[in-house]
Parts: sequence; C-alpha cells; structure tokens
Amino acid sequence: MLIPSLLLVLLTHRLSFPLLVDPTPASVVRRLDDAFSTLVSDDYFFEKSADCTSSAKGSSAKVPLFGSSALVSFRRATPDSFLLTVSGCTAEQFGWICVKFYEERRKFKGLNHSGLRRATAEHFNSLPPHPGYDAHAPWSVTDADPSMTSSETDLASEASAALVRSLFPDSVLEELSEEGFVVIDDAFSTSPAAANSLTEHLTEAAKRTNQSVSIRTDRVAFLSRSDARSCGLQSEYDMLMAVAPFLNDNVLWTVEKSSHAPVSPGTAARPLTNPRNIQVAEYGEGDFYATHSDNGLDEGGGRRNYRYLTYIYYLNDGWSASDGGALRIRRRSGDFETMEAAAACCDFEDVLPVGGRLLVFDSRLAHEVRPNVNGRGKIRRALTLWATRPEESGARGEVWDEGTEGEDKDEID
Ligand SMILES: *[C@@H]1O[C@H](CO)[C@@H](O)[C@H](O)[C@H]1NC(C)=O
Ligand SMILES: *[C@@H]1O[C@H](CO)[C@@H](O)[C@H](O)[C@H]1NC(C)=O
Repeated sequence: MLIPSLLLVLLTHRLSFPLLVDPTPASVVRRLDDAFSTLVSDDYFFEKSADCTSSAKGSSAKVPLFGSSALVSFRRATPDSFLLTVSGCTAEQFGWICVKFYEERRKFKGLNHSGLRRATAEHFNSLPPHPGYDAHAPWSVTDADPSMTSSETDLASEASAALVRSLFPDSVLEELSEEGFVVIDDAFSTSPAAANSLTEHLTEAAKRTNQSVSIRTDRVAFLSRSDARSCGLQSEYDMLMAVAPFLNDNVLWTVEKSSHAPVSPGTAARPLTNPRNIQVAEYGEGDFYATHSDNGLDEGGGRRNYRYLTYIYYLNDGWSASDGGALRIRRRSGDFETMEAAAACCDFEDVLPVGGRLLVFDSRLAHEVRPNVNGRGKIRRALTLWATRPEESGARGEVWDEGTEGEDKDEID
C-alpha cells in the first residue's frame, strides 16, 4: 500500500531558466556549467553523481539528505534556456533544492532567476509557522551561547528568573491583562558603553528592513546570546528570555480572567514560546516607524504571524520628551484592519524610550515610533523580543519575501 502512494508523490520537477544574453556566448554557458559543479562541490547538500554526467550535456548530482533518491541535473535545454530537472523527490524536497539554488544565485549570473525566486517563495510560504522554542529552555541550548558551561547557564537562568519575578508583581500582570500593555521602569541598568557597542554590531550585521522608507527608517539586527554577550548585554538578553517562562508558570496569568479580550492567558496546553534571537533597533535623528501592528490582521482576516506579546527594553540614558522617539500605543486597537481606522478610533499613550524601561504589550495593538528629534545626534536604541503562540495566532504561515527587483538587476551580467 505504501509503495504505490510513495511512487505517486516522487515526481520529476522542472524549472526553466531563460538566458539573459542573446546570442549566448559559449563562455557564459561554460561558466553556468561550472557554477553548478561549484555548487555541488561546495555544499554538503549535494553529491556529485558520476553515473549521469557522461550521458547528458551538463552535470548531475544526488541529494544524500533525501536518501540519495533525488537526482538533480542542470543543463542547457534550448539555445536560450537552462533547465533544472529533479527526479525522485517530493514537491517539498524540490522546494528545498530551489532554496539551495536561490541562496547561491549569484554564482549563476546570466540567468533569469524570476521563476526560481517564485518557487522559493512558494516553498517557504507553504511551511507552517515556526513553533518557537520551548520557553523553559530558551538558551541553555548550546547554539545560543556555546561558550557557556551548564553551571553558568543554570546560574544565569536562575538570576534572570528571579529578576523577572520581581518585575512582574500581581499588579503588573493585572495591568497587562486589563490594558493590553504595561510599562516597567528601572527593570535593569545598562551602561551607555554597552548600548553604544551595538552601533558597531549594527554596522556589520544590520540592514535597513525591507519596508519602504515611508513606513520605517530604523536599522535592525538580530542577536544570539553570544552576540549579546559580545556587546555586554547578556543579562538584558536573559531578562527578555525569562519573561515567557515566568508567564507560562504564573497562576494569575494562566487563569482566564483577562478583561482585555485580545490577550488570552497562557496555559500548559498552549504555552508561550520564544524565538532564539532578540532584535536590536537603532533610530538616528529623524528616524521613525509609522503606525503598525506586530501581528495585524491580514487581507483574509487572519493574523499575519504567531507573535503574541512584544517586549521592548530601552537603552537610552538621559532621554527626555523633547528628544521625541516615544512609542505611541493605541489602546484596544488589535482588531482593526487598517491602521488609519485604529488611529482614528483609539486613544493612545506615549511611552518614552527611557533607559532601563521595559514595555510589554499585546502584539496586536497598533503602535508607532515617533520621530527622533533630539537635534544632538543622539541615537535611540531598543531591544525587542516577541513571545509566540503559533497555534492560536491564526496565521497560516509566514509570508517569505526577500530581495527586490533592484537586487535582481544586480545579478544580470
Ligand atoms: C525574467 O522572466 C520573467 C518571467 O518569468 C519576465 O517577466 C522578466 O521580464 C524576465 N526578466 C528579464 C530581465 O528578462
Ligand atoms: C528592501 O526593499 C527595498 C525596495 O523595496 C530595497 O531598496 C532595499 O534594498 C531592500 N533591503 C534589503 C535589506 O533587502
């Protein structure tokens, strides 16, 4: 019974790549053949397949990861196109092969990648949302900070759990439930030197995000625990990671008593999970982020992602109201489809990004970052983490969208 159904799903998949140069010089064709050989020899994913190299023009490879069954060939099919053919794999496995090609697309200059880009996007967009990591073991896992011994991990974990317990007395939890957000001052004290060191990290790692500059102009990067440690911000990282485990275990939070409808409490059956990395965002003078929701309604009425709570820790010593940069949060604005409607309907509170301040809010609430107008070159910095609960996010999957037409143009020879 199993074998016929397996045969049905193991199909041959093809993707055609039109050549961009017409007429195509032999040197370009040779280079594309070489690019495939290089991809195969450079990536553990593929393995050269001697059987087929001689029988067809171009080269072939196997994918050991898929039990060696998938056979990949890449060759000139017509005078003006190359063809990627993969036989003996499922549609999902073909998706992963497209991802590998897309990651290495710069090696394949001279081809039109637009079909590859579409296949890669379809593949990512068909995957379910990442479930997040068990909040109770957020960074004891070695990939977060391989330099730590297990006793160091235990100590840091206990210290951050104790800190978070002290920051969230019942009154704070009640305010979070009732209002959908809560401001906790002096959560931690971060030295200006540590905060400034983020700029260097951002210069190397950060990008402007893929959103239009009419929406946001900040720079962001994602820090693992060892990245955070290299900036002297490991305790801040630990504090943010300790919030979800605390909420998962907290009786007040786990009893269904919230009067703020969008926030329903965590339970053992539906725990909050953590991503592995925290976001750092930097706003220079004039930078802003227009009204948005971290988990708004999408066009079909579902949620865009699996974020549940947003927590932001501010790193700005001596920040005052005249510097601008407040986070303007709209009360009870989680169920508006357009940000205009949320802004028109709901009153707001301006939360200044004062150093040491921790802001926790329902990820669905509309909010914006007002422009940094300090006039003295001061940078506004914040660390953000989201607690996630995929199973009730209503999200169908994450929409993968990376790269631009501009970027694609760069790849054309
Ligand atoms: C690449 O192919 C797409 C169709 O898949 C087409 O719309 C686009 O114009 C092509 N780009 C170039 C530069 O030929
Ligand atoms: C994001 O997209 C814009 C165009 O929409 C582009 O100019 C920018 O370079 C992209 N940024 C990144 C980091 O890909």
